[in-house]
Amino acid sequence: MTLGPGIGSGTSEGESLRGSPDVLAQRFFRGLPNVEKDKILSVGERFRAAKQDFLEGRIAVEPINLGVGTFVDDRGMVPRMISVQTVIDATEKDHNFRMQNGYFPITGVPSFCRGVENFYLGEELAAELRRDHRLVTVQGLGGTGAYRLGTELAKRSGTSEIYVSDPTWGNHLNIAADVGLGSPTYPYLDREAYRLNADGMRLGIATAPAGSVISLQPSAHNSTSFTPSREQWDETIEVMKDKGHTAFFDVAYALLDGKTISEHMYPVVKSIEEGIPVMVAVSFSKNATLYKERVGALITVMPPKLDGGASSAKEDAERVTNNLSAIIRRMYSSPPALHAAAMGDILNDGMMRGVWKSEAVEQSVTIQDGRDLFVAGSVARGLPVGNVDKGAGMFFLGAYPDAVVGMLETDALLFTVGRRFNAAAIKEKNVDEILNRVVDTYQKLGLSPA
Ligand SMILES: Cc1ncc(COP(=O)(O)O)c(C=O)c1O
Repeated sequence: MTLGPGIGSGTSEGESLRGSPDVLAQRFFRGLPNVEKDKILSVGERFRAAKQDFLEGRIAVEPINLGVGTFVDDRGMVPRMISVQTVIDATEKDHNFRMQNGYFPITGVPSFCRGVENFYLGEELAAELRRDHRLVTVQGLGGTGAYRLGTELAKRSGTSEIYVSDPTWGNHLNIAADVGLGSPTYPYLDREAYRLNADGMRLGIATAPAGSVISLQPSAHNSTSFTPSREQWDETIEVMKDKGHTAFFDVAYALLDGKTISEHMYPVVKSIEEGIPVMVAVSFSKNATLYKERVGALITVMPPKLDGGASSAKEDAERVTNNLSAIIRRMYSSPPALHAAAMGDILNDGMMRGVWKSEAVEQSVTIQDGRDLFVAGSVARGLPVGNVDKGAGMFFLGAYPDAVVGMLETDALLFTVGRRFNAAAIKEKNVDEILNRVVDTYQKLGLSPA
C-alpha cells in the first residue's frame, strides 16, 4: 500500500512510503508538520505556569496577565452577564424549545439569525434587504467560526487572497492560510507616531487588484484600537466601490467601545448603502460573555441587482445559502442551538435587549477606565503612550521600544501578546504596580522613558 501525494510530509525526502504495518503506523502521527503554539493562547499558559510558581514560592513577584482577550472584573474573573444567564435558563426550561429534539437547520436558529440582522443592520435596512432577497445570514461557531465561513465562501467565489490590515488579529492570517488563501496587507498603523495611517489604508486598498476582498474592523480594532473617522471611512468606501471590492467586516467588540450600535456599524451600513458586496462576521463572545458557548453569525449582503442580470436576486440569495449550507454541512453539519436561541430571544425582545445592552455598556465603561488609568499613569511617569487616548476598545498597542517589550514578560512578569495590552485587565488596584515595573524595565536597560 502506498500513501497518497502530500501525505507523510514529516518523512525525510526519498524515504520510501512503503513499509511494514508497524513502520506505517509510526509514520502517521510523526508525519504531522510542526506547528507553533497560538501566540495568544500560549501567553495564557505561560501566565498560569508563572502564577503557580508565585503561589508555590518559587518566584517573589506576582505575575500580571495583560494579554488575555477577555473582559475581567476587579477579582480578575470573567463575569457572566445576568441578562444573558437569565435568558439561557428560561430557554433551557422553555417547553417549545425542549420539545424540538431533532436537528435544527444547517444555517442555524432562524430567530437568532433574524435578530442578528435586525440588531446589527437596523430593523428598517434589514427588512428592506430581506424584501429584495439581498440578505443571507447563518449562525457561526463564535466570531472565529463566522469569519471562517466568510473566508470559505470567498474561496468558493474564486478569491485567492483576502487583504488584511497591518497589523491585525493573528487568526485572520491563520484562517486564510488554512483555507488556502493569501493575506496581503494594507497599511493601518503609523508605527512612528503610533496612530492610524488612514491615507496609507485608503491607498493600500486602492492599489489592491479590482474585485479584491478586504477584511476590515469597523471599530475597536484589534490590536491597535484606532478607528477611521466617518470622513475617512467615506473616502475608503468610495475607493472600495470604484474598485469593485468586497468588504469583509469582522465585528467582535460592538457595544464595548463606548459607541452605539449604529455608530459602531457605520462603515458596514455605508458600504451596503453604496451597493458594495458585504460580509459581516459577528461574535457574541465578548459583548454577551458567551465566550465558551461559541455564538456568532455571518451576515452576507448582496449588491442591488443590475438590470439584465443572468439570474434573479432570489436565485442569487439561494446560491449563497446553498454554498454556506454545504460549507457548514461538511465542517460540522449544524451548529449548537441553546445559546444562540437564548441570544435570539434577547435580540428579539426590546426589554431584554435593553438590559443586555446596559450590561455591555457597563463593561465598556470599565474598559475605558482601564485605558484612562494607563494613559494618566504613563503620562505622570514620562512613559510613551502613542495616542492610546485616541483609541477605543479592549486592546491597545504599547508604544515601548522593542527591548522593553522583550523584557516585559521575562523580567517584569507582565504578560502581554507582544505589544498588545488588554485594557480590561488594568485596574485602579494594579495600575501603579504595572507602570512601576515598566519604569524598572527602562532603568534596567539604561533607557529614559521620555
Ligand atoms: C478581531 C476579532 N475577531 C474575531 C474574534 C473571535 O471571537 P470568538 O471566536 O471568540 O467569538 C476575536 C476574538 O478575540 C477578535 O479579536
